[in-house]
Amino acid sequence: MQVWLCENPIGPEALVWTTLPTPEPKEGEVRVAIKAASLNFPDLLIVQNKYQMKPPLPFVPGSEYSGIVEAVGEGVTGFKVGDRVVTFGGGGGFGTHVITKAAQLMPLPEGFAFDDAAAFLCTYGTTHHALIDRGQLKAGETVLVLGAAGGVGTAAIQIAKAAGAKVIAAASSDEKCALCKELGADATINYTTGNLRDEIKALTGGKGPDVVYDPVGGDLAEPVFRSIGWRGRYLVIGFAQGGIPALPLNLALLKGASIVGVFWGEFARREPKNSAAGLAELAAWYAQGKIKPVIDQRLPMSALKDAFARMSTRKVHGKLVLTND
Ligand SMILES: NC(=O)c1ccc[n+]([C@@H]2O[C@H](COP(=O)([O-])OP(=O)(O)OC[C@H]3O[C@@H](n4cnc5c(N)ncnc54)[C@H](OP(=O)(O)O)[C@@H]3O)[C@@H](O)[C@H]2O)c1
Repeated sequence: MQVWLCENPIGPEALVWTTLPTPEPKEGEVRVAIKAASLNFPDLLIVQNKYQMKPPLPFVPGSEYSGIVEAVGEGVTGFKVGDRVVTFGGGGGFGTHVITKAAQLMPLPEGFAFDDAAAFLCTYGTTHHALIDRGQLKAGETVLVLGAAGGVGTAAIQIAKAAGAKVIAAASSDEKCALCKELGADATINYTTGNLRDEIKALTGGKGPDVVYDPVGGDLAEPVFRSIGWRGRYLVIGFAQGGIPALPLNLALLKGASIVGVFWGEFARREPKNSAAGLAELAAWYAQGKIKPVIDQRLPMSALKDAFARMSTRKVHGKLVLTND
């Protein structure tokens, strides 16, 4: 098998595309022939040694992938050779094959394409948990999505629309704003050229958004929190800009607003039934055509470094997918 090996976590430039013996699965394990894997922002942080989770070296990065079960170890009952599967969270996805615990895998529903599946669980799982569960978003409310043309951002536009909300999508370029419009955003703000606070005010008739979905953080957080509506919910998704913002708490008092943390991986671990219910609703929405991952590019697995370069320079629209053909 071929894999991207991280022996020195100083960044994507140190990753090596190498050939290793294809291992046999042990008890409780499965070998998956990977069809597609997608990049999530934490994949970049992990190979830079900047993520909270630091795998022992050497490791194969790639937390989200889909594929076909190729061999099963002793005691595995839930999966058989030939099953289509998808997973998030275990690592090892940037390669042609991976050994993983069977318990880590989910069956891939009929009709769910491998590339869509590889680009789905993390962004849509996070965003469903964020908007519907943590944010209690209701039909008719207004949600402001930051970084709206990115992975979780594009999922947020689609899920908010599926929930009947009005969406204001904010991003750093006119090109990204145009994509957000295509995805159904009711209005857009280019926060590189526009005045964020003035535009939010104008687009909400002075009331401010009911829910803010923020995967960017940095210097966007305070002006946006100052613009939130009465009883607003500010969803803390991530800090793609790098800086972790601090907010004056008097602003929360003045707006009767909530700062709501979102940690999908921990939610799925602690509340597996609630997480499964959210994913089942998402799978139904996918089957009905209400949501569909936006795939920026499909690159061969060997082009991981190009993909990381695109992600770290903010060029990605939606999700980058690597495939083995
Ligand atoms: N809480 C959770 O459970 C959870 C789950 C998944 C992801 N996340 C977090 O959500 C964030 C976004 O993840 P993603 O996979 O959607 O990433 P992504 O596709 O790269 O999108 C991130 C967006 O952030 C914006 N951005 C602003 N400054 C940036 C910078 N310096 N570098 C890169 N992007 C920058 C970009 O939009 P503009 O160019 O339009 O500004 C970009 O589209 C990450 O921090 C990730 O860790 C959290």
